[in-house]
Amino acid sequence: MLRKLIRMSLAGTLGMLALTLAVGASSTATAQEKDKEKVPTISEIMLKGHKGTDAYIAKIRGAVKDGKWKDAQEYAKTLAFFGENLGKNKPPKGDAESWKKLTKKYAETTKATHKGTVDKDAKAVNAGLKGINCMECHKAHR
Ligand code: HEC
Repeated sequence: MLRKLIRMSLAGTLGMLALTLAVGASSTATAQEKDKEKVPTISEIMLKGHKGTDAYIAKIRGAVKDGKWKDAQEYAKTLAFFGENLGKNKPPKGDAESWKKLTKKYAETTKATHKGTVDKDAKAVNAGLKGINCMECHKAHR
């Protein structure tokens, strides 16, 4: 009787321990997921994506020109990720409707650019990049 009781409580303790470990492990996984999916700021997107010869737009153009499609796809994928995320930020000025419209357009053009690299279609890539209208958005929201 006593033995059985001890066995039962031991099983219970082990069960709890397993549960605790499982919960612990899953919460670490979510923390990592969250970090990976952290929304890049507007500034980060502008500087890494657009500004100068070291930014993704210039790198995509260069890679396509050299026929380095794998590199172009890599860069364009990040630009498309920026496209998906820009609208999740709040701009320093301008109204919400306009921001929604312009960031949606940005998401579409960056996605089309990425697709162009996947299809190895230089024309589609250039059309996608040309579709990014810096001034239109800056006038309203920067
Ligand atoms: C859909 C909107 C949108 C588009 C398109 C856009 N920008 Fe911007 N950009 C912004 C906003 C908003 C800011 C201001 C960010 C702030 O001050 O927090 C900004 C800021 C910047 C900055 C300053 C960043 C810093 O923190 O120093 C640069 C550089 C820049 N943009 C370059 C470009 C270029 C080049 C293009 C076109 C290839 C472009 N942007 C297209 C919205 C946009």
